[in-house]
Amino acid sequence: MLERMTDQPQPAAHDGAPGPAPRAPRRGLDRTGPFALGDKVQLADAKNRLHTITLRPGGEFHSHRGVLRHDQLIGAEDGVVVENSHGIVYQALRPLYADYMLAMPRGAAIIYPKDSAQILMWGDIFPGARVLEAGVGSGGLTTALLRAVGPEGSVHSIERREDFAEVARENVETFFGGEHPAWELSVGDFQDLAPALSPEEPAVDRVVLDMLAPWECVDSAAEVLVSGGVFLAYVATVTQLSRTAEALRAHGEFTEPFAWESFVRPWHLEGLAVRPEHRMNAHTGFLLTARRTAHGTQALRRTTRPAPGSRLEEELSHPDNEGFGGSEGEWSTQDVGERGVAPRKLKRALRDIRQGRDR
Ligand SMILES: C[S@@+](CC[C@H](N)C(=O)[O-])C[C@H]1O[C@@H](n2cnc3c(N)ncnc32)[C@H](O)[C@@H]1O
Repeated sequence: MLERMTDQPQPAAHDGAPGPAPRAPRRGLDRTGPFALGDKVQLADAKNRLHTITLRPGGEFHSHRGVLRHDQLIGAEDGVVVENSHGIVYQALRPLYADYMLAMPRGAAIIYPKDSAQILMWGDIFPGARVLEAGVGSGGLTTALLRAVGPEGSVHSIERREDFAEVARENVETFFGGEHPAWELSVGDFQDLAPALSPEEPAVDRVVLDMLAPWECVDSAAEVLVSGGVFLAYVATVTQLSRTAEALRAHGEFTEPFAWESFVRPWHLEGLAVRPEHRMNAHTGFLLTARRTAHGTQALRRTTRPAPGSRLEEELSHPDNEGFGGSEGEWSTQDVGERGVAPRKLKRALRDIRQGRDR
């Protein structure tokens, strides 16, 4: 298989020589190749205890079990095993995006890699996309967005807290080894800054929000999003989820919101003991997406038939049900997804019970 692949004609190279075109030099963690000065390296000992170091001229990694000189790593292949002064061995690897995310210094809580992965896929973040993001927090998601849009795209991040923006800038620039050409960071509120970004015509393909009150940003997101653009919000609680979904519906120019959450259950792999790990992150957040309709076009609403046998007016207005339906209530039965039970269904259930029918 390998031979057949190498038999294929090679793509014409930049200078006419066969072989792939050289890649632009990369810095920071977003690259491969032997370790160089300034690189972050993750050292794992035989018990998989992790230490992250930054390679410096003459630098040393000290533990109570000896010293490892940074010189032993500079120029070495990513993934080497090195031995310190006391014979302790370490596997040395350049951290991956997920390693960096979980280990990076943070102020605000970050979006975990499992959720970033969902955001990139279902937010449809494509190479060349123009993404508007808020809030930035510690810059965790920003890094994932920047990688996905690539040098042809752009990520404009808005963060209301100056101190958080500073932390995010440090984290993002550490990851990319300096300023990222596709990134712009503004300090302020999304609602105030977003509409001013593209006053002539909408110029944002995707809006990604990770903040306390994304429902407050729906109108400004609608202004800047191109027709057909994607709105995505990441929230921690069902109340935030519900308010955001209702704000999108009330706006009128968003398709029906879609919400979900993801679970990742790691597995323990040891000999015959192959089973789920005992612990997992049971809850991180909920995701919600909706498409912006063509500007000036109301979204087509799903038509739903009223459930047969919807609750009786008498029951809805019962004082015990205050807030859950009825004319005095804040919400209608439909709002809480209540479909009611048709009298015919109840009759059938009773008949089945009385006849002791199996199901
Ligand atoms: C949970 S953090 C974001 C974490 C970030 N996604 C990450 O992965 O590191 C939420 C951030 O939103 C910011 N924020 C809240 N409301 C905002 C708004 N209306 N405009 C801009 N930033 C806002 C907060 O200051 C906070 O830093």
